[in-house]
Amino acid sequence: MDFKELANKYQTPLYVYDFDYMAAQYDELKSAFKGRKSIIAYAVKANSNLSVVKHFADMGSGADCVSIGEVRRAFLAGVPSYKIIFSGVGKSDDEIREAIEKDILYINVESEAELGRVELIAKELGKVSRISIRVNPNIDPKTHPYISTGLHDNKFGVDLNSAKRMYIKANNSEHLDPVGIHFHIGSQLTELEPIRESAEIVADLVRSLEGINIELKFFDIGGGLGIRYDNEITIKPYDYVQAILGTLTALDLTILCEPGRFLTANAGYFISKVLYEKQNGEKKFVVIDGAMNDLLRPSLYNAYHKIDVITDSKEEPRAVDIVGPVCESGDFFAKNYPLPPLNHNDLVIVNSAGAYGFGMGSNYNTRGRSAEVALESGEDRLIRKRETFEDLIALEQEFLKA
Ligand code: LLP
Repeated sequence: MDFKELANKYQTPLYVYDFDYMAAQYDELKSAFKGRKSIIAYAVKANSNLSVVKHFADMGSGADCVSIGEVRRAFLAGVPSYKIIFSGVGKSDDEIREAIEKDILYINVESEAELGRVELIAKELGKVSRISIRVNPNIDPKTHPYISTGLHDNKFGVDLNSAKRMYIKANNSEHLDPVGIHFHIGSQLTELEPIRESAEIVADLVRSLEGINIELKFFDIGGGLGIRYDNEITIKPYDYVQAILGTLTALDLTILCEPGRFLTANAGYFISKVLYEKQNGEKKFVVIDGAMNDLLRPSLYNAYHKIDVITDSKEEPRAVDIVGPVCESGDFFAKNYPLPPLNHNDLVIVNSAGAYGFGMGSNYNTRGRSAEVALESGEDRLIRKRETFEDLIALEQEFLKA
């Protein structure tokens, strides 16, 4: 990958995504499900660029969406309605209405109160809403607390008893059709056992529902497959699928899976230029033109991203903090990272930036968001323009008083 050429052509800071890598990840996961009815519903939140969503849609992927905005993106990108699901703890009435009208595969319901709203809105529309219920299996996924979701301490899903009550209610309703069951215990998972245990708990619930003649079609195992940022030992897709299948004996369900990070993280690179080096006492800093508003993960989770540099410098590395121009001490990409002395305009490449990178960006400090570029079969193409100052003020300018 010629980062220098890309930086010259599109300027920095810049996101670059290797579409061939994304395709290979998709294929690896899809083939692990071979012989089983399955749908991969790409978790749009990981990287919601329309061209990325379309790339997966073209390979047959569905979409896991957590806002009606994401549902609209999925439609725009060509994902068929029967492969779109809508999850999230706080869907508004308008969002529920639009999802029902668009006749998506199902709505993942996350509380008894929400089930009531979905039923009411389906009734108003004179429709039947397909639903799935997100079960919170109360299993510790052993990941960062901010991205752990399957414990009763977390706001997500409902406990087993509530789920059962909700299935009975839905099954008795003229306006609800319970078709699926869902769990998602966290993200960046590197241990298989918590996933297997959760699947077993949820599969037991499916069996007990069959006992009262509530037959589901979809077993939605969420996302969460971890990737290598550093030297993590990750779960192999084949082992993942085998562990899930092992819990589904005697159940004929289509498995739905919602990977985000696994498909996109290591396809992405965030490219930034060195502005200056500086030293405060003993502490050395490299100031680059990218910032926390472009890539928030290090600031928010203290997340590790491997960093490479493109430089002519042949000197020995020393420990530096790599920081951006934003007015926050939390604006950093790495701390005490070994880099050689760098020159103005050398390139700093932040790896594993394809998931939860651009999408978690903001305009803090009135910084326009970076451009995004796709690389596919040796060709590069722009998939999102760099935001301009005019873009940033477009929704405010008309209100300026003279
Ligand atoms: N399904 C559901 C219901 C989810 O909540 C998520 C992620 C996924 C699927 C996709 O998970 P993945 O396969 O990407 O792990 N911003 C954080 C990650 C937040 C994940 C939220 N939910 C980060 O940068 O690490």
